[in-house]
Amino acid sequence: MKTLRFAALLLLVASASSSLAAQTPAPPPPSRPSTHPAPTAEELAIQQACAHDRQRLLNLLGIQQTRPPVSNDPKAPNATNYDEQRANPYPNLPDPLKLLNGKPVTTAKQWFAQRRPQIVAAFDHEIYGVVPAHLPQVTWQVVSTTPETFGSVPVVTKRLAGRVDNSADPRITVTIDMVLTTPAHAAGPVPVILELAFPAEYQVALQRPRPETITPGMGYYGQSWQDQVLARGWAFAILSPNSYQLDNGAGLTAGIIGLANQGKPRSLTDWGVLRAWAWGASRALDYLETDKAVDARQVGIQGHSRMGKAALVTMAYDPRFAVGYISSSGEAGAKLYRHIFGEQITNIAADREYHWMAGNFLKYAGPLTPADLPIDNHELIALVAPRPVFIGAGASSGDGYAEPGGDAWADARGMFFAEVAAAPVYRLLGKNGLGTSEFPPIETPLITGDLAFRQHAGGHTPVPNWPTFLNFASRYLHAPPDPAAPQ
Ligand code: GCU
Repeated sequence: MKTLRFAALLLLVASASSSLAAQTPAPPPPSRPSTHPAPTAEELAIQQACAHDRQRLLNLLGIQQTRPPVSNDPKAPNATNYDEQRANPYPNLPDPLKLLNGKPVTTAKQWFAQRRPQIVAAFDHEIYGVVPAHLPQVTWQVVSTTPETFGSVPVVTKRLAGRVDNSADPRITVTIDMVLTTPAHAAGPVPVILELAFPAEYQVALQRPRPETITPGMGYYGQSWQDQVLARGWAFAILSPNSYQLDNGAGLTAGIIGLANQGKPRSLTDWGVLRAWAWGASRALDYLETDKAVDARQVGIQGHSRMGKAALVTMAYDPRFAVGYISSSGEAGAKLYRHIFGEQITNIAADREYHWMAGNFLKYAGPLTPADLPIDNHELIALVAPRPVFIGAGASSGDGYAEPGGDAWADARGMFFAEVAAAPVYRLLGKNGLGTSEFPPIETPLITGDLAFRQHAGGHTPVPNWPTFLNFASRYLHAPPDPAAPQ
């Protein structure tokens, strides 16, 4: 079913793109197809390669069997739980402010010097995998520079290619694709919002004439996020994480992971795709540090769903990112693994998603359980501290599959609880949490602290939360003052 949702997203992106030139009125969001198209021979080959590689990891772990993923069939014995009353069998979270020797962490210095590295090590080893110590150089090339008008704003759009040195294995070519649009008449370097885009979204981002009124596949909600960003005098960049690491297990012997391994399969602690996508986002920031049109100390990162997971991992590992919008990231993102609602570890550990993670992660799908994890995702959020982060999702009614109007699979409450449990770290560092531990009424923005949250009333889409995120981010990101503006 999850593939159905993703396939539907891609289909919608593709079908929306043909009508993108139409400006008004905006069409209603198209309905999702209800049947799987039959897999092509190529897709079948990919599925087989994934199953084979996952089994190889299970063999390395000495695991005979994992528990089945939760099912979206409400009648199945392993049906997904959408009942909050049954969602908390593991109420005890690891304490982010307790060292492994049991001593409390009471100072910022202790957090950074002792506790934070312990949490990073656990995420490296057990969850996302370890980035190789020596990775090839990336050389950025400006492929094209185009003055144009975006909406009514004069801008300059640059297509960029980060070429990865592949002298270690010339069979594997890796390029990081990105496009950067900056206001043409800014008074100085401007803040940037960097989006991690799905492949079809990235294709749409390159199209001209550009889509004016639709965020393809994610429903119609008025002005695009890019227009909203430009209206604040900021720039936007769109990165294609799939350009440097494909989104399946069959691709792990290629892309940056394969290049670093010279085409060999991963070990149990080698990095997974989320960590690789985050690596590329850091390389994108390396480029932004060299571009005089932008202020690389003021870069916000955004991602939705699996790209939301990657955006949160990026923020956790790279302290140069100033602010984040983490949309519907769900399981393996901002949601607590110990909150048993919506997607579960067993789904992430199955053939279609295991590649996001380190091989070691598979053991928590059986025999181990979420209670055995040395960390939980409140600690992933805590790694972002003291920097501001906005976590958003859609409605908890409607699973996002049978009822596409909701986003329950991503589990807004599980993400909210993770933020609440991350707040003590923010407070230790002199910052503010959400200001409440009560789950707020739907569509209530919590944006006065440095941790922020909002659940919108729609489905699996980042669009309705963009204005709230940008309000929140504008407390931290500032365009250079316009010399023409009245004093
Ligand atoms: C599936 C998957 C989620 C993921 C989502 C997406 O639904 O189970 O973990 O976030 O795809 O990326 O769209």
